[in-house]
Amino acid sequence: MSPPHSLLLLFSSMFFFTYFPGLVVSADVTLSSIEIYTTHEWLKATPSLYFQCKGDNKTELLDVKETNVSYTFKGEESWQPLTNFFGKKCKRCGVYEENKILYDDVFDEWELCPSDFTTPDGRYIHFKEKEFNASFLCPDCLPISGVSVSAPPSKNQYQSKKGMHGAVIVLLTILVLAILTLAILVIYKYWQKKKREQDQARFMKLFEDGDDIEDELGLGTII
Ligand SMILES: *[C@@H]1O[C@H](CO)[C@@H](O)[C@H](O)[C@H]1NC(C)=O
Ligand SMILES: *[C@@H]1O[C@H](CO)[C@@H](O)[C@H](O)[C@H]1NC(C)=O
Ligand SMILES: *[C@@H]1O[C@H](CO)[C@@H](O)[C@H](O)[C@H]1NC(C)=O
Repeated sequence: MSPPHSLLLLFSSMFFFTYFPGLVVSADVTLSSIEIYTTHEWLKATPSLYFQCKGDNKTELLDVKETNVSYTFKGEESWQPLTNFFGKKCKRCGVYEENKILYDDVFDEWELCPSDFTTPDGRYIHFKEKEFNASFLCPDCLPISGVSVSAPPSKNQYQSKKGMHGAVIVLLTILVLAILTLAILVIYKYWQKKKREQDQARFMKLFEDGDDIEDELGLGTII
């Protein structure tokens, strides 16, 4: 039973390394710069902005107080990184303004994806007219998205999914064929053995019958 085992191991490891090369990587996203063009709360002079992704904690942007001023960051501030990715999965994130009385105001909310960081230094600029312009950095996102950098992310995800299905089907087919071949071989060997035994038994019986006939004949001649 050792050849099918090693075959299975070989195929599953091939499968794993082909399709999940960047899966274990975690990639931090930092805010590089932000400029807001408006505030949503007119009662308060200074806005309290924060960045948040669904499932993550809030990150308060305490420095951002004035409109039409570009704030730049080194990426090492106490509140950085903003968020992080595990694998290719996108996160739904947004820039909001805290509102003490009503619901928080939304500057913008969008899907932030590792594949968005396409420049050589891993930068992504999110601009929303009349609201804000922010640039994010994620150098570790480049190896995660890999060759998909220039391709549209949705198409690429579809293709890799299709490829994965194909690989699973091929793997299963090979496995089934291997098991089937093995089973046929075992059955054939068993049948051969059985047949040989039967032949032997019939031969022995023939011998015994022959003896009986001879005995009868001998007895007959004597009489
Ligand atoms: C959110 O903050 C709390 C307290 O600081 C911390 O224990 C928790 O791990 C944080 N959660 C995430 C997803 O960062
Ligand atoms: C900021 O710039 C926008 C146009 O870019 C302008 O409409 C707005 O009045 C400016 N706000 C301030 C406070 O200067
Ligand atoms: C947004 O900010 C980036 C980086 O600071 C800058 O290169 C870009 O020109 C800005 N875009 C707009 C529309 O202001």
